[in-house]
This record gives sequence, C-alpha cells and structure tokens, in this order.
Amino acid sequence: MSFLDRFRRSTANESFVNSPMRDNWYQASSYWPSSFSLVTTVSEDGETNIGPYQLTFPFEIIGGRAVMIISRQGSNTDRNVKRTGKCALNFVEFNRRHLKKIVSLGYPGQTTEEKMKDNPYTLVDSPTPGRESDGKRMPKILKEAFQVYECSLDQEQHIRDDGKTPEYLILRMENILLKETWAKNIEDGTTRMPNMPITFGFRDGAKFWFTEIRKPFWFPTPTDKGPKEESILYEANRLNPEVQFTREACKQLTGIPRPFVKTALKGIIKRALEEGISEVDVEFIERLNKEREG
Ligand SMILES: Cc1cc2nc3c(=O)[nH]c(=O)nc-3n(C[C@H](O)[C@H](O)[C@H](O)COP(=O)(O)O)c2cc1C
Repeated sequence: MSFLDRFRRSTANESFVNSPMRDNWYQASSYWPSSFSLVTTVSEDGETNIGPYQLTFPFEIIGGRAVMIISRQGSNTDRNVKRTGKCALNFVEFNRRHLKKIVSLGYPGQTTEEKMKDNPYTLVDSPTPGRESDGKRMPKILKEAFQVYECSLDQEQHIRDDGKTPEYLILRMENILLKETWAKNIEDGTTRMPNMPITFGFRDGAKFWFTEIRKPFWFPTPTDKGPKEESILYEANRLNPEVQFTREACKQLTGIPRPFVKTALKGIIKRALEEGISEVDVEFIERLNKEREG
C-alpha cells in the first residue's frame, strides 16, 4: 500500500456501476491479483523455454492431482506442451529486477532463442530420475525456484476443444519439488510463507502490474464449530498415505488432549502397519483401547 493509499477514502458508500465486459475481463474489466508460474518446456530446437502464466489454477486436488493453465493459442508453451507432453511449473520468490525480465519473457511473438537471451534464471536439470533434460521432451527447471510442479499433459480431459483461443491445458502433476526449507516448513507445521510476487496482469495496453505481499499472518480455525473430529481426520489422513482413518474412527479420538493427538495417531498408524491394516476404523480403535485398558 502506498503512502497516499492509506489516506484514500473508502468506497463503501459509493454506487456500483457496470464495467464493460471486455475480453480478458479478469484484467481488462476488473481486478484479479494472483500468483503466476514460469512454465518451462522444450522447444523444437531442444532449448528450454520459459513462459509466465498467471492463469495457473489447482484443478484436481483430491485423489487425482492436476493443474489448469489457460494460454493464448500458439504460444511457445502451448505448442511445446502439446508436442512433448511435458512441462514444469516453476514458482519464484519476489525479486523486482527479475520481475522486469519476466515481463520480457511474457511478451508474445518471440522465439525461444530470442527471449531466452534475457533470461535472468539459471536453468538446471530436474533432480527427478527420468526427468533430466534430454533436449527433446524434459525441460530444465529454474535453480532459483522455491517450488516446481513437474507435469504431463492430460490428453483425455478436454475443457473445450473447438480450436479457438485460448487453450485450456490440463496438466497432471507428477511431482511437487520444494526447496528443503519449504518442505521442512510444511512437515514441521507451517510457520512461514514464501514471499511470492503477485500480479494484477496486463493493463492499458502498455503496463504489467505486480505487487509484493506484506507480512503473512494467520487466524486459528474455530474449535467450536462443525464436527469435532474434523481436525483429527485432517491430521490423521496426511501422516501416512498407506494408512487412512475413517471419520467414525476419528470420532473415537476426540477426547485426546490436543497436544497428544499427533503422538496417539502415530502410535495407531504404527500398529496398523504392523498388522497390515490400511484402513483404521472404529473396531480397530476399540480393540486398541481394550488392550490399553488391559
Ligand atoms: C506475469 C505474466 C503473466 C501472464 N499470464 C498469462 C496467462 O495466464 N495466459 C496467457 O495466455 N498469457 C499470459 N501472459 C502472457 C504470456 O506470457 C505470453 O503470451 C508469452 O508469449 C508466453 O510465452 P511463451 O510463448 O514462451 O509460452 C502472462 C505474462 C506475464 C508477464
């Protein structure tokens, strides 16, 4: 927020007016701040190409994992993904100097060779076995990224396939790569958020708007609303994908004091694994309870 913005009058008492429905309405008729990805793909010449895409959305999130990217038809990314079936979505932290270069990487009509001359990033091989750059299909990734989604094109799932621009690319997630610090942050309980740059997109035919996020903060989720077992269910089912808890089983565990829940869940998972059980249900919990009570 700029100094002047702090003194700007609230618009709460103003009347609503219609904004013209333009193409690319999210940026031409309204305000849509969001993160963006830097998509790496392999060009026909075997070079890694970087294309910035604000319209990068989580698409399938439970069971299946997919991302959707909306791209103008015929972009390098669109053509490369369709030809090779592979791409990597790189997410970087805020760096004003790099953002200026990202705008150049996002200027349409350039070949990979032309645009990559001014690339501020270091291209490296993926650490994933089989994903090393091969000059054909597997793109390099950005060393500076804090997070990379390695994806392949879903050929089956078509949102709209009428040959018109834009293209809705459904990309199946093969791997989520995180830098060590950010992986540990999630595993140990999140205490920080990456300083991701935010874009407001292309405006007035001549400007690309960005902003930096201020200090992230959190509120606790309500403990007095909804089913009591919800948070236990959430925690239980992300500890080990091999062992999943039923909701009914979690209801049995709502009496455990909060600080001991994780330890208790780990103990139950250990027993389940020893016994070759993949689903913890009420019967299993009751059996463990009986054993404990002697
Ligand atoms: C920050 C940023 C976000 C962008 N987001 C999109 C987007 O979501 N979809 C799109 O078609 N173009 C988007 N563009 C424009 C593309 O980057 C541009 O079409 C570019 O030519 C794509 O690169 P490529 O041809 O190498 O794939 C964006 C540009 C910038 C700078």
